Amino acid sequence: MPICEALMAMLTIALSKGRIFDETLPLLAAAGIAPAEDPETSRKLIIGSNRADVRFIVVRASDVPTYVQRGAADLGVAGKDVLLEHGGEGLYQPVDLGIGRCRMVVAAKAGFDYEGALKRGARLSVATKYVMTAREHFAAKGMHVDLIRLYGSMELAPLVGLADAIVDLVSSGNTLKANDLVAMEDIMAISARLIVNPASLKLKRDSLQPLLDNIARNAPSAPGTADAPSAASARSRA
Ligand code: PRP
Repeated sequence: MPICEALMAMLTIALSKGRIFDETLPLLAAAGIAPAEDPETSRKLIIGSNRADVRFIVVRASDVPTYVQRGAADLGVAGKDVLLEHGGEGLYQPVDLGIGRCRMVVAAKAGFDYEGALKRGARLSVATKYVMTAREHFAAKGMHVDLIRLYGSMELAPLVGLADAIVDLVSSGNTLKANDLVAMEDIMAISARLIVNPASLKLKRDSLQPLLDNIARNAPSAPGTADAPSAASARSRA
């Protein structure tokens, strides 16, 4: 087969390491696809599979939408948290997979009078890597906040006086608890979605559509599928 034809037929799946990868593997296995190497131990960024026409690229969680949007990957799996920050333009999002469930919350130090601060109209400083989501949330409440963008370990911010509160994901609640923080307000439920490049769907429909259908059928969110609660979160080193 000529190289351009082979590339046309090749399906590239963008995944991030960690929980999303772990929870996506069984869905791919049900579709007859298995990575050739474990991304946790391999240093390779492009990993083959048991099918000659399917390969994986291993990227940061927050980069998955960009690779798919620009067609460097045909499909991927990304948390709603990541998609909200990205904006989702140029992405077809056919299925909420129901994996990687967690919650996005406002949290602060135990004993912090969050409700009182809201009532007083106090201007809070809030540290987060979910700046778009946080901005929208507080704007909808009519609250003025100073958002401080961080890239990880948000829980530290209130402990060292960097911020009054954080907007972060909570799964087991262990990280909040270990740092004497409490969820003050629930923002939204988060889970991971299948995302697809719209041009790929047109050009590679014969191979892509059956795969999408198969993944959707076996996803925990599928009707009639046991919807076991997952302790894992949609995020993985976003
Ligand atoms: C996430 C999140 C919390 C933690 C919550 O961090 O930001 O820190 O997991 O999980 P828990 O409720 O089960 O304790 P992650 O490990 O993804 O790394 P990050 O700090 O880079 O976001």
